[in-house]
Amino acid sequence: MKTINVAIIGVGVVGTSVIKTLQDNQDIISARTGVKIIPKLGIARNIKNKYVNIPLSTNLDDALENPEIDMIVELVGGVDLPFQIALKALTNKKSFVTANKAMLAYHRYELETQRQGTPIGFEASVCGGIPIIKILRDGLCANHILSIRGIMNGTSNYILTQMSHTNADFEVALKQAQNLGYAEADPTLDINGSDSAHKLLILSSLAYGIHAKVEDIIIEGIEGLIPEDIQFAKEHDYAIKLLGIAKKQDNELDLRVHLCMIPKDSMLAKVDGAMNAISVIGDKVGEGLYYGAGAGGSETASSVISDIMEIARNKTAPMLGYVSNSQSLEQVVMLAPKEKISSRYYVRLKVNDKPGVLSIIANILAIWGISIQSLIQRNANENSYANQHEIQHKKSQQNQNLESVFLLLSTHICCETQIQGALKELYNLQEVLEKPFMIRIEQLT
Ligand code: HSE
Repeated sequence: MKTINVAIIGVGVVGTSVIKTLQDNQDIISARTGVKIIPKLGIARNIKNKYVNIPLSTNLDDALENPEIDMIVELVGGVDLPFQIALKALTNKKSFVTANKAMLAYHRYELETQRQGTPIGFEASVCGGIPIIKILRDGLCANHILSIRGIMNGTSNYILTQMSHTNADFEVALKQAQNLGYAEADPTLDINGSDSAHKLLILSSLAYGIHAKVEDIIIEGIEGLIPEDIQFAKEHDYAIKLLGIAKKQDNELDLRVHLCMIPKDSMLAKVDGAMNAISVIGDKVGEGLYYGAGAGGSETASSVISDIMEIARNKTAPMLGYVSNSQSLEQVVMLAPKEKISSRYYVRLKVNDKPGVLSIIANILAIWGISIQSLIQRNANENSYANQHEIQHKKSQQNQNLESVFLLLSTHICCETQIQGALKELYNLQEVLEKPFMIRIEQLT
């Protein structure tokens, strides 16, 4: 039987699981590929306390320059070093498998150009154990994709779930997510929406062939959310989720990551804890919802090994789903300007409780052409999250001496330019005590 020797660069939780699964499930892996796949070498920065029974080295070239190694599996994390590893692997004609969404978000098209036929697999880069890459590239490839909407980050979904179901503090829930191993080494990427954005960019390349960059799209995280927002959402039959959204309208693609209020009875609203789920609507197949573990050692290893096996079968599809000499889809689908996005919006304002404030605010919204759909007032008392955590500096000592309240409102549909302009103007008011907080209300239709 033909053999393929694999070097695993990065022997952490996922790397260890890849090695063990290749060994434990060798029978089924060989039966399904007709190839014996051997984890030959592990490369790690520190080779102490690694519980794997294969040779280990700290020298990358032991894998990258080794003629006995056929395939490189990169599980390092970060952007620059993994990109260099990928380039060297491809130069040396070694197949390359990665779980690294950040690197792909920045360099996927360079890799596609440089690989010159050498296979690249990246199933594990998006939503860990959910085979969403193969779903888009293979399973749904006969469809025009109308939209992709998903919960693509387990850490932030875990935090939102804990805050919503157990009234947990943001920091406490984040600590729990870190202890459970969901968060990135730097959880900022989970919390600020970047991790979801990296995944969304990869998916939209597959679905639309679009060359969007991280800096081209709206990326907002879950920071700043307080219990009053969650309460408002519940009272209006919404759940709050961090969604990655790609929506095609005519020939423009609306791409963004931000908190959304979504109908509480929708399937996505019921995805709790660290789980991920992605809804894809195809023009022929309709809507499908793909649900599963977005992180975890054996779950991510399952996807990594599916790439290794696909390459071993020698049946790889084009890296980003389009054959290289096909007419560029850029001519058909263009990234929609951020300003054109339209939505309903939820807005939280912390204001002085004094006569005339509401009319000043309503007037600014009216000037921007924004119509209020509902509005309630809540005490912003000493015990509120915002006060305890001093999440924004109060504007003046004088204003501190007045009673303050939260105005929680939702709007009818308007566009991003209108709401951003209005929020900026509202923040400049003496009577508005904190930076306004906004969540887009997504109808999921
Ligand atoms: N840190 C990611 C998450 C897992 O929380 O979803 C790996 O993509």
